[in-house]
Amino acid sequence: MSLSFELLATDGLARRGRIATAHGTVETPAFMPVGTAGTVKAMMPQSVAETGAEIVLGNTYHLMLRPGAERVAALGGLHKFMNWPRAILTDSGGFQVMSLKELRKIDRDGVTFRSPIDGIQHRLTPERSIQIQHLLDADITMSFDECTPWPVEKEDAARSMRLSMDWAGRGKHAFVDRPGYGLFGIVQGSTFPDLREESAKALTAIGFDGYAVGGLAVGEGQELMFQTLETTVPLLPADRPRYLMGVGRPSDIVGAVRRGIDMFDCVMPTRAGRTAQAFTRRGELNLRNARHRDDPRPIDERCGCPACRHHSRAYLHHLIRSEEILGPMLLTWHNLHYYQDIMRGLRAAIETQSFGHWIAAFEQEQGRGDL
Ligand code: GUN
Ligand code: ZN
Repeated sequence: MSLSFELLATDGLARRGRIATAHGTVETPAFMPVGTAGTVKAMMPQSVAETGAEIVLGNTYHLMLRPGAERVAALGGLHKFMNWPRAILTDSGGFQVMSLKELRKIDRDGVTFRSPIDGIQHRLTPERSIQIQHLLDADITMSFDECTPWPVEKEDAARSMRLSMDWAGRGKHAFVDRPGYGLFGIVQGSTFPDLREESAKALTAIGFDGYAVGGLAVGEGQELMFQTLETTVPLLPADRPRYLMGVGRPSDIVGAVRRGIDMFDCVMPTRAGRTAQAFTRRGELNLRNARHRDDPRPIDERCGCPACRHHSRAYLHHLIRSEEILGPMLLTWHNLHYYQDIMRGLRAAIETQSFGHWIAAFEQEQGRGDL
């Protein structure tokens, strides 16, 4: 195996692990900030590292269109291009291309689509997606897949999942094994337990360095997502990392770790930060709200981020209302710091076999509300 994964401790189904990549180690459970276009929006790379993130996510789809994968490779790869010396996982483009709707055409071999930037036609196949991720120098490469929409008829979910399994096998052949680099497969099958089982079996037969659960958080709701994890996760090899794609809110992450997931990515903390929304121990706050206008307190007096150490809710409210760029910057920093605080808490709780207590305290505090 080219990407090593060490299981350090377990508490119930929850796992505390460590992934060793070509660009450093990643302590799990891990949250990966989304750096779609070679930047975690509104954050300096050093600031992203200061929140505690050890790996970020980049996107094949966005980077192939602009500035182009060959250009990034000629400039020394994505780590150097964006000055992020740590680990990078890239999504394969399947998920992003599917959201284009009218601009794309899917066939058994791949997807043809028009760039929304300049209208130029592009083609992604499983082989080209892997090649692009190599050009970007991704430490973790994702299989090219189709993210099945929800709701979906079982027949369509099965066809979509089997196409993704075929693409996963082709991607494995195209992947070049190197020390510290790995390829993950993506389980599909919507919310149908037997399709998830068929998918997990197909992927483990091919053999990957890690296993992702895709096609969730697409409108099915938390309960169905957790149910699907409960049937899917036990079918994945215990000695390989497990990644729940595109998830989620703090309670989604905590519930998924409880069900055996090791890795997450989501635009939630960064996107919400740019729209004045702060995630806190006591739930969510919107700093645009007039009730913060005269409030001298920080977002959270127990948070160690710059927004909370140096600034009042009143000041952050003022920045947002004035459309000052520092507002989204500080709120993004706070949200990413809070997400990493959750991950640090989860890791410590699993290590000390106190996961049950940690969850109870987390849920009680989230439910208590602000003030
Ligand atoms: N991001 C969120 N869900 C998915 C998925 O199912 N597939 C891929 N490739 N990316 C995702
Ligand atoms: Zn803070």
